[in-house]
Amino acid sequence: MLTFQKNLRSEPIFKPIPPEIFDYLKQSAPREPLGAEKTYQEFLDKILKHHGSYLQSPKTLAMVLASSTPFAALSDMWMAGLNGIPGNPKMGISANLELQVISWFKEVLGYPKDSSGILGSGGSMANLIGLTVGRNVKAGYNVKEEGIKEKFTFYGSTEMHSSIQRALEQMGIGSKYLVRIPVDDEYRINVSQLKSKVAEDVSKGYKPLCVVGNAGSTNTGSFDDLNALADYCDEEGLWFHVDGAFGAWAALSLKYKHLTDGMERADSLAFDLHKWMFLPFGIGCTLVRDGDAHYFTYSTHADYIAHEDRWLVDYGVELSRPFRALKAWMSIKENGFNKYGRIIEQNIEQTQYLAKLVKASSSLELLAPFPLNVVNFRYVKDGLDVKQLNDLNQRIVDTIRLGGDYFIYSSKIGEKVSLRVCVTNHRTTRRDLEGLVDEIHKVGKALASP
Ligand SMILES: Cc1ncc(COP(=O)(O)O)c(C=O)c1O
Repeated sequence: MLTFQKNLRSEPIFKPIPPEIFDYLKQSAPREPLGAEKTYQEFLDKILKHHGSYLQSPKTLAMVLASSTPFAALSDMWMAGLNGIPGNPKMGISANLELQVISWFKEVLGYPKDSSGILGSGGSMANLIGLTVGRNVKAGYNVKEEGIKEKFTFYGSTEMHSSIQRALEQMGIGSKYLVRIPVDDEYRINVSQLKSKVAEDVSKGYKPLCVVGNAGSTNTGSFDDLNALADYCDEEGLWFHVDGAFGAWAALSLKYKHLTDGMERADSLAFDLHKWMFLPFGIGCTLVRDGDAHYFTYSTHADYIAHEDRWLVDYGVELSRPFRALKAWMSIKENGFNKYGRIIEQNIEQTQYLAKLVKASSSLELLAPFPLNVVNFRYVKDGLDVKQLNDLNQRIVDTIRLGGDYFIYSSKIGEKVSLRVCVTNHRTTRRDLEGLVDEIHKVGKALASP
């Protein structure tokens, strides 16, 4: 495993899966034991051999991904080896360790000390938990018992992550009642349009419950004016949820901390550890200002797990849950928060460097501002219309991915298909970005030639 991590840079990101491996993976359920030794050998030959460096590669710059470290992998091994469930803080060290890392997050993100928190599988889960508490608090009756009885509406910008919609679908609110407010030129929610829309909805008989603010939107890394949203939610009695999946961690950088101003005023705050805190997948966190509301949303009684005091399971969706805190605790102790702040700053400045390379090229066009660690641009050629350019840029992304050296993903800025690059990897260097730009020029030129 350590050798694999050591060789991440030289491994192709994706390896083609040979047909015999596809066949191998269709074998029926094993009924008799193969034994640990042979199984391990099969893992080496059939799985690891075809795995590639995937999302940890310094040249993986797609979506918003996690790079991880050898020490974090070791902590994950211990998590599985101990296999405890962090539950009752009066009994287990694992629950107390979870409370400790959550208190660190509050401290470094400037969130109130007396708030509650829970670790979960990632940003989607963290958003679901925050929004569910918000729904229960603002509904004005016991939704837990009575279900949805009114037309509740939730608001955010057109840049909200899709996990917000998925959360509302799961919560019985319905995606139709998630209102997407337009953004300004910097991809920040238009607060006056938000206000008018909420007023209009109230007059039509809807019951607005919550506003979602972006602290680092997925598509462009934009931050809403979180103070303006917090003021408005205070005035209107709305729940203020902030999705800071990766952007919340900009608070660790002295230079970029100001971007997150107002985030600490959220009623609930969701963020990941497996993005810009460089941990292996499967760890996110929700903080909730009103710990009682958080507790009442998730606590329930069952005779076989009866307890009077508050356990961690009373704050989230999962009952059996892994000892996730360990990997956060070990890596944060190993590195200290300041080092994370420096790497985050490094990633932001690498992004600015990439944007500079884009601006310097007559074949590339920047498509959106880049306040954080995400740049959207496209390859251009005279004489091509939007549709042809969209097609060309999509083919550039696909060709680069198949080439195995770099992994970027496309997105859209308005009607334009973009080459979207997001830097959340501590292993990425400026030379990697120069190489990417060379690759885009090479592939773009080849595909655009008649
Ligand atoms: C802003 C934002 N929110 C939420 C999520 C969902 O997080 P996860 O993939 O950890 O469930 C993402 C994922 O990229 C994101 O960028």
